Amino acid sequence: MGGCEVREFLLQFGFFLPLLTAWPGYCSHVSNNQVVLLDTTTVLGELGWKTYPLNGWDAITEMDEHNRPIHTYQVCNVMEPNQNNWLRTNWISRDAAQKIYVEMKFTLRDCNSIPWVLGTCKETFNLYYVESDESHGIKFKPSQYTKIDTIAADESFTQMDLGDRILKLNTEIREVGPIERKGFYLAFQDIGACIALVSVRVFYKKCPFTVRNLAMFPDTIPRVDSSSLVEVRGSCVKSAEERDTPKLYCGADGDWLVPLGRCICSTGYEEVEGSCHACRPGFYKAFAGNTKCSKCPPHSLTYMEATSICQCEKGYFRAEKDPPSMACTRPPSAPRNVVFNINETALILEWSPPSDTGGRKDLTYSVICKKCGLDTSQCEDCGGGLRFIPRHTGLINNSVIVLDFVSHVNYTFEIEAMNGVSELSFSPKPFTAITVTTDQDAPSLIGMVRKDWASQNSIALSWQAPAFSNGAILDYEIKYYEKEHEQLTYSSTRSKAPSVIITGLKPATKYIFHIRVRTTTGYSGYSQKFEFETGDETSDMAAEQGQILVIATAAVGGFTLLVILTLFFLITGRCQWYIKAKMKSEEKRRNHLQNGHLRFPGIKTYIDPDTYEDPSLAVHEFAKEIDPSRIRIERVIGAGEFGEVCSGRLKTPGKREIPVAIKTLKGGHMDRQRRDFLREASIMGQFDHPNIIRLEGVVTKSRPVMIVVEYMENGSLDSFLRKHDGHFTVIQLVGMLRGIASGMKYLSDMGYVHRDLAARNILVNSNLVCKVSDFGLSRVLEDDPEAAYTTTGGKIPIRWTAPEAIAYRKFSSASDAWSYGIVMWEVMSYGERPYWEMSNQDVSAANS
Ligand code: ADE
Repeated sequence: MGGCEVREFLLQFGFFLPLLTAWPGYCSHVSNNQVVLLDTTTVLGELGWKTYPLNGWDAITEMDEHNRPIHTYQVCNVMEPNQNNWLRTNWISRDAAQKIYVEMKFTLRDCNSIPWVLGTCKETFNLYYVESDESHGIKFKPSQYTKIDTIAADESFTQMDLGDRILKLNTEIREVGPIERKGFYLAFQDIGACIALVSVRVFYKKCPFTVRNLAMFPDTIPRVDSSSLVEVRGSCVKSAEERDTPKLYCGADGDWLVPLGRCICSTGYEEVEGSCHACRPGFYKAFAGNTKCSKCPPHSLTYMEATSICQCEKGYFRAEKDPPSMACTRPPSAPRNVVFNINETALILEWSPPSDTGGRKDLTYSVICKKCGLDTSQCEDCGGGLRFIPRHTGLINNSVIVLDFVSHVNYTFEIEAMNGVSELSFSPKPFTAITVTTDQDAPSLIGMVRKDWASQNSIALSWQAPAFSNGAILDYEIKYYEKEHEQLTYSSTRSKAPSVIITGLKPATKYIFHIRVRTTTGYSGYSQKFEFETGDETSDMAAEQGQILVIATAAVGGFTLLVILTLFFLITGRCQWYIKAKMKSEEKRRNHLQNGHLRFPGIKTYIDPDTYEDPSLAVHEFAKEIDPSRIRIERVIGAGEFGEVCSGRLKTPGKREIPVAIKTLKGGHMDRQRRDFLREASIMGQFDHPNIIRLEGVVTKSRPVMIVVEYMENGSLDSFLRKHDGHFTVIQLVGMLRGIASGMKYLSDMGYVHRDLAARNILVNSNLVCKVSDFGLSRVLEDDPEAAYTTTGGKIPIRWTAPEAIAYRKFSSASDAWSYGIVMWEVMSYGERPYWEMSNQDVSAANS
């Protein structure tokens, strides 16, 4: 029977008149976190439950308007004493259940409304169960059964109710577990009541299959121990990949709690309502993440689905470092309008950028020099003689200076433009050429070059200054290389005089030399090549004299350099020391400012996180960011305004795991809630005292946002004292108060006013050490069930608050001291309510 609709049906009730009544709520609403093992409202045939004795419970099966059976068991032997009537269900398979729930709907007659039954009539019945691996058939031994509970009605009905046709249906649920055998029986024992058992539903709870953050979590059966959670690792939906390990915790009520980690859609896929869909043709997604697919950038396309990068159109390219979101580009056209400007020593080439840069900004130019005769098809490379300032390739500006050119030569310069994709294109690089004839008067060539002497490693040369220099001679350039390795590598040196000693040569080796002169009007051409050989061992004697001179000069030079360097290091070394010392003192000054000025030697001042323009800066200033993979959540220990409070363990590299409490911020929060939530961490993180709850860190970079603090095994002080009423010596109680006083003194020295000091906001650890907790000013008061609105609109825990703070919100360390007085009373009275049942108004009036 699917009917959860309101149904009208007939109930025949022992010696009562048949009763036709409207009965809302007869059917149960089944949520998807319940797995039903038995529901009598859905059984079509006879239930066939066993009754003992036979004249006890009666089975009555009525038909509803849809011709579906309604199974009711009733008993009403209220006149006769010593009733012991049993009703036993059929064997119920436990399936995957560890803990089962039995929901009973029944009516119960008020004994007072039945005349002459005093002493025999009862208003309860008992629920029993027994576990077994198989059905016992008709065997029924009440002694084997374990009692689950006595069931009483919240609402019993009277004769008058019957007259008014009102039947009061009770619903009671009991839980049983752990169930370890394959199945079980339930039994209902009547001991003389007037009951109609209208329906029985047996179910267990599960956290149902769910998809969160693109991860799938299977059906999960909660633990029997209702406070511990089952940690479940999710698997990513199709076309998604793990970012942080996705996890959920299955709570005892079949609810999923504290989602951690997530999956993200892979490249080429985007998230649509909890799954990853392929990007359409013409769209792409280059990176895994929860972004949408984007249209292919200009000059690129894709005809396929799930594209991670669009292909470039023909003639367009993507450079290696171009991001996939960038348009495809092409090589530039040739530079335009090349012009030159020449004087005696320098040739300046200038040009305009190409008309088409190819869509890129990384345009560079290269200048290639060729010497062409009359026939331009027979050009040769200019060789290494020319100098280009700043260089001849990779030019960023539209000009270059050419030096060291030779007179009376036709130079052809090709200016190429290129960009980041030029190398990817097979077409030749576009260029613009210009021919320059160097026709200014150049100095004449050097004539004869003489070898003055040679040693194993040196050669001394000299020559005549050129006959015609056309300007003052600046210097000579001497180019030389080993004859054996002609032109492979060459060296060059300069000399102001028409002579030079070239050192560092190989012994007994032939070298080629050629020399040119530089004057104020430019370079001459190179002289003809001269070949000289270095000496062997015997030649060194001859060279000795020359070398002595060289060594003496070097020694004098070296000593001078040493003196200069020593002076330099002395000066700069001292400067560095001075800079370091200054930096240290600056750092000290900054730390001092950051930490606040010292109110008391050795104690910092508390900084209100609200004074930070960006509160997330405050939290990272005072709290460490924890990687969520280091946190293991074990159980839910409470629920706050912002989300669950869990206990668990925190792994710190190189240290052993420590127990922690984890406050979570529920998903779907507003920025403001997140700020308020993290304000507590920003405050707590500033404290370091054995009687103040210690902050381990925060998780802000992934969901859920969490605050991790030290775990306090005995929970809050008020409930701890109530639970252990009278168990402690006065010394122990005063010891707890001493700890709280010490923590509060520290807060006061720091300049922090708590505003909500009360035993409920003190936590107790396994050594009975009390620590002040619950920081966060306004938020704490919002959260505090004791806080009531005052006439001025503030929310204040009246019984704990000093009169001046209630009257005109003058909160101070002095008002905290008043609250401490109330806490003293709470502790010494083992958690009694301050001022007992006096109203808030009377408390305020009494104190002011
Ligand atoms: N409840 C809230 N915070 C707690 C903590 N740190 N330890 C134990 N229970 C808590």
